[in-house]
Amino acid sequence: MKIGILTSGGDAPGMNSVVRAVCRSALNKGMEVVGIMRGYNGLLNGDVINMDAMTVSGIIQRGGTCLYTARCNEFRNIEGVKKAKENCVKMGLDGIVVVGGDGSFRGAADLSAQGIPCIGIPGTIDNDISCTDYTIGYDTAMNTCVQMIDKICDTAASHDRCSVVEVMGRKAGYIAINVAVAVGAVACITLEKEYDLDEIAKKMIESKAHGKTHFIIVVSEGVGKTEYITKTIQDLTGVESRATVLGHVQRGGAPTLRDRVAATKLGYYAVELLEKGVGNRVCGFKQGEVYDVDIMEALSMKKPFEDELYDILYKTAF
Ligand code: F6P
Repeated sequence: MKIGILTSGGDAPGMNSVVRAVCRSALNKGMEVVGIMRGYNGLLNGDVINMDAMTVSGIIQRGGTCLYTARCNEFRNIEGVKKAKENCVKMGLDGIVVVGGDGSFRGAADLSAQGIPCIGIPGTIDNDISCTDYTIGYDTAMNTCVQMIDKICDTAASHDRCSVVEVMGRKAGYIAINVAVAVGAVACITLEKEYDLDEIAKKMIESKAHGKTHFIIVVSEGVGKTEYITKTIQDLTGVESRATVLGHVQRGGAPTLRDRVAATKLGYYAVELLEKGVGNRVCGFKQGEVYDVDIMEALSMKKPFEDELYDILYKTAF
């Protein structure tokens, strides 16, 4: 057998660990492996590299993706998918592992429908893929946020300030709520929950009267109002406030142990599926166990927000 591996969409720490696991698992089963460069673009323009065990040596601990990544517009229409299929046939590919998010999985479903079995592996810092409890990159990104916000907290404390910190997550607040709890934030503002700046300000003023001097508020990027929130909190509380947008620092860096192990498990499992000739599946974690699910079913699932953690935040914040 000959299989391909590509990374697609926004990069995430741990993507390299998946590439390594897929490559080595496949080679150890006697398969040939090619790395497809820059997501689906590499399939369309034939930009692929032959991989051996040494190609992936020393990458398990590296951030980013050695295969590069991209969002590919041409692949969104059926002509693009058909062209990719023809190239797969020319290259003799019996299957492809696609590491990415929901958009990438749609492409994988389309290509599977054209007869090229594809297996999706959830790779995004946002943890916003419903079919899995966990996505590769999430833990590393959250730990980066915690390190950055701990530093911000030092200066907020020195100046008696409130720091309002925007974290990534697209429309999802999973990074925000976990990071907020971990840094001892007084509030977490996300799209999933109603928020009341007057109420937050009231509690800040009360706690200031009891001696609290500095504050952290975490805002999920999807809310889109970080500057406004910062100014409003300052106006309502009289506490000098600063906004910080953490940005792409959250997508880089060496993957944590959790991301490396999760990546290795999913990479190995994906190859096992392709070996059996199975395609059109996403693999992920359900209650800690690796499992796989039909791509369209995966895309129709809804993931609950962390309501319990959100409640705990507000019950421990002051
Ligand atoms: O999906 C990962 C992510 O980092 C989101 O959190 C963020 O909204 C988006 O990608 C940013 O994308 P780009 O790097 O293309 O600006």
